Amino acid sequence: MGYKKVAEIQEFDKTDKKLVVVNEQEILLTKIENGFYAISNKCPHMGGSLFKGTLEAGVVTCPRHGSKFDAKTGKAVGKPKILFLKFDVDDDRSYSVKLEDKDILIDVGE
Ligand code: FES
Repeated sequence: MGYKKVAEIQEFDKTDKKLVVVNEQEILLTKIENGFYAISNKCPHMGGSLFKGTLEAGVVTCPRHGSKFDAKTGKAVGKPKILFLKFDVDDDRSYSVKLEDKDILIDVGE
């Protein structure tokens, strides 16, 4: 299927993240230091919306149990915590992003 347009660069003038849906997949698109990155919006722990979490210094924190992911790669960098217990969490899926003129495109695979 390949790359699909999901946003325009100017949409990020006033924000650093956007939730987009491609082929029924929710994807968190972020702008970090003038680069654009895409990971699955669905937290691999228990499905929390990463878009509803915080993005700080390139790390997105899930609002449900606090898992942290590198927003550039989807790599898990912080474990979820429920009460006083910490659990393991898988890495999040990441997607390739490219720019064409003023458009942002994501490769969503098949
Ligand atoms: S659902 Fe994201 S940390 Fe639990």
